[in-house]
Amino acid sequence: MMSLDNIKSDNIESDTHYFGSGRVNLIGEHIDYNGGLVMPIAINLGIKGQYKERKDNNICLYSSSHQKQIIFSADNIPSQYDPENDWCNYPIGVIHALYNDGLKINGFDLSFDSNLPEGSGLSSSAAIEVLTAYILLHQAGNPIHLPALAVLCQKVENEFIGVKCGIMDQFAVANCKKDHALLLNCNTLKYEHVPFELDDYSLLVMNSKKPRSLIKSAYNERKAESEEALRILIEARKLNQGQYLVDADMADISIITDPTIRKRARHVVSENIRVRHAATALRMGDLHTFGRLMNASHQSLKEDYEVSGLELDTLAETAQNIIGCLGARMTGAGFGGCAIALVQKKSIESFSKILSHRYLTVTGLNCEIYECQAEDGVRIIN
Ligand code: GLA
Repeated sequence: MMSLDNIKSDNIESDTHYFGSGRVNLIGEHIDYNGGLVMPIAINLGIKGQYKERKDNNICLYSSSHQKQIIFSADNIPSQYDPENDWCNYPIGVIHALYNDGLKINGFDLSFDSNLPEGSGLSSSAAIEVLTAYILLHQAGNPIHLPALAVLCQKVENEFIGVKCGIMDQFAVANCKKDHALLLNCNTLKYEHVPFELDDYSLLVMNSKKPRSLIKSAYNERKAESEEALRILIEARKLNQGQYLVDADMADISIITDPTIRKRARHVVSENIRVRHAATALRMGDLHTFGRLMNASHQSLKEDYEVSGLELDTLAETAQNIIGCLGARMTGAGFGGCAIALVQKKSIESFSKILSHRYLTVTGLNCEIYECQAEDGVRIIN
């Protein structure tokens, strides 16, 4: 890495600004890596990115919300994750992957400005990965195939960053559409935009502000437990090689003798069914049914998949019982992060008061509440 004195080069301003949105998953949790259906939206919180070509051959990464900035030569792109590089590992991983794919990389400054809370389950890492890839391909004048861009960024997360996540987050940031939810089959990557019309209701994101310390180990543990359930069902010939856990019937699951593995499988199979019903409910504008499915999803994540915890349970279950709320659930990987609720617009103020008070009493923490709209995924903003 070079000295940061070199940062202020005689840059050529580019007037193109870009935006990488965060996402919330409406329903379909912890089933993307089980070949299931998910239904995220991109939200109005996200990361702005600005690209400036440099006259020298250096790459400088800068973020208004982080101390750390980095400069390195385009001839010497770091090829591995380095904890010293902090948040810069995400864009570096993407630059490295694009370079390996044959993209010619010249010097540039890339600066980011974010209003997306980090480590809160709103996919700040997918947002910066997808945004970086989009900017570099756009600046190079390359055609951008958004599903392929999502796959490249998932690979960066899996291999460069070392997080074995599924495809949902990167795919959502790349492919979501304003006023629509993205119904994605994570096995085939076929997707459909389902109208997300809330009329008198709003989607509220409730940030537990609980740091997600368990997240990495517990995520990998749940993934391993799902793989074990799949192995048992294939061995018992309930599923064929190449099928996914979501392809099992509820009845087949009873042959799994280990109660923990059986519960994990029950969540995966039932959640996939709930996503189908939720998509039908949305298409029919039936928000009451949609809300009930959100509640059922939360209960399954709490009891069968065991990825919620006191904070998320308090948010979701308190919300579910407040008048004007049609449904609530945790969203994302869990163990902290955010929950979401579908709340009547005219009740938002009283809802927020009751919820914040109850949450503080039970957990000693102050939650944050944001009203969110379904937005386009990654895009040019001027
Ligand atoms: C994280 C992962 C996703 C998905 C969710 C849980 O957000 O990055 O791939 O598994 O958790 O649904």
